[in-house]
Amino acid sequence: MTNIVLFGPPGAGKGTQAERLKENFKLKHISTGDIFRKNIKNQTDLGTEAKAYIDKGELVPDEVTIGMLKTAVEEDKFGNGFIFDGFPRTVAQAEALDELLADLDTEVHAMLSLEVPDQVLVDRLLERGKTSGRADDANEDVIKNRVSVYYKETSVLKDYYKSKHKLHTVNGVGSIEEIANRLADIVKTL
Ligand code: C5P
Ligand code: MG
Repeated sequence: MTNIVLFGPPGAGKGTQAERLKENFKLKHISTGDIFRKNIKNQTDLGTEAKAYIDKGELVPDEVTIGMLKTAVEEDKFGNGFIFDGFPRTVAQAEALDELLADLDTEVHAMLSLEVPDQVLVDRLLERGKTSGRADDANEDVIKNRVSVYYKETSVLKDYYKSKHKLHTVNGVGSIEEIANRLADIVKTL
């Protein structure tokens, strides 16, 4: 298996690039944000619980997100591996992921971190909000809160994977194609 954490602040391009990597390397793309949004659309209990946090740009509690992620991994545990997009977002989530993969006799092989300046993020998200239909992309205050939550709770995960010699930083500014090539060059070496 090859398991990749595709990392970066909101608007870094994780979802877009995960779609490319999944085709090229035949990996299962797990986007926790997409699973939440599907649950919100289908009005499940999980969706109702998550929506209260997502609409404010806050993180859904770890136990909820970790439980959901476990279910998704279980469904594809016999595949080539995973691209985790939007997960982990806290140290507790990273530790849970390590345990879950260890149970499958595998591990996170790399964190690919897309580096994008803050002002570019806010502009990209506001632009995306015009067409994405995502309430959390349409409001500048919510966007700024998401970026701030990233710095407060999530960015520390770069140190977590760096200490395990798994961190690869990638310039996330450029064309989709250019960035896809930068990422693919790293994944080929794993
Ligand atoms: O990853 P994405 O930007 O699509 O996530 C959208 C929202 O879902 C986040 O802003 C957050 O509210 C919630 N989320 C979370 N924990 C995760 C992934 C997403 O709370 N691990
Ligand atoms: Mg996304």
